[in-house]
Amino acid sequence: MKKVLVTGANGQLGQCLQKIAPSYKELNVIFKSSKELDITDILGIEEAFVKGNFNYCINCAAYTNVEQAEKTPDIAYKVNAEGVKNLANVCKSYNTTLIHISTDYVFDGEKDEPYTVKDVPNPINEYGKSKLLGEKHIQEIMDNYCIIRTSWLYSEFGKNFYTTILKKAKTDDILRISNTQLGYPTNAMNLGEFIIGEIKLNEFKYRVYHFTDKIEMTWYQFAVKIINDKKLSNKVVIFDNNTAYLASRPKNSRIN
Ligand SMILES: NC(=O)c1ccc[n+]([C@@H]2O[C@H](COP(=O)([O-])OP(=O)(O)OC[C@H]3O[C@@H](n4cnc5c(N)ncnc54)[C@H](OP(=O)(O)O)[C@@H]3O)[C@@H](O)[C@H]2O)c1
Repeated sequence: MKKVLVTGANGQLGQCLQKIAPSYKELNVIFKSSKELDITDILGIEEAFVKGNFNYCINCAAYTNVEQAEKTPDIAYKVNAEGVKNLANVCKSYNTTLIHISTDYVFDGEKDEPYTVKDVPNPINEYGKSKLLGEKHIQEIMDNYCIIRTSWLYSEFGKNFYTTILKKAKTDDILRISNTQLGYPTNAMNLGEFIIGEIKLNEFKYRVYHFTDKIEMTWYQFAVKIINDKKLSNKVVIFDNNTAYLASRPKNSRIN
């Protein structure tokens, strides 16, 4: 039976994997929250691996607060770069395949077309820079890895665009949403099914993947879809491109 470790297990993707994994009886999936396994603590990781004998590690641990990363970049780099470096080193020592999740934010968004895995990253905010450094550490340290870049993850779990819109709709009749960025909203359950399915079949063929649901939308269009799907017909969604963000965002976030 293949043994799989999931780090950052109480985040959005981690919770999706917790929902998905029990139907894969041929996998023994062990979930560790940030409190149980801190990826910035190399000794803690070593301790988990020495006992674990893991075939795969799915790294869902990340610092994902894009705005806060501009104010306190050190924390973002500590988790997304140094923490990932720790995991890569330990995975290499224990011959564990590292499945690492990265982001559309490694690109600058200036391309008119969707980005392919051959495009050269050029992040424009601290979150994206810290995630790219994490990717680079993995590629320098080990051979046995797979980096999966995804975009605009949403699900019923945690804080994401979908849960934020539904929460806002409970109190506000008018929702003001930006229409300036284009991306592929991706259901985190679909990503979770892909990862677990590929592990079951030993099917990871490439070093870098782009995984999305590939339906193009702006945040405004996504908000309209959420409101319509939930039949919240008394709510109105309007464009508002005036929100001042600290972090620059790529205007084209589509990854192919
Ligand atoms: N959400 C998106 O739209 C999106 C888009 C593209 C790519 N991604 C990538 O997809 C992956 C999963 O994202 P997500 O939406 O599931 O993020 P999330 O909900 O923010 O989950 C991240 C998890 O990592 C944990 N964590 C933070 N620091 C840690 C540390 N030092 N050690 C161990 N765990 C730590 C967090 O725990 P605490 O809550 O206790 O801090 C949290 O449970 C991330 O790599 C992210 O960069 C996300």
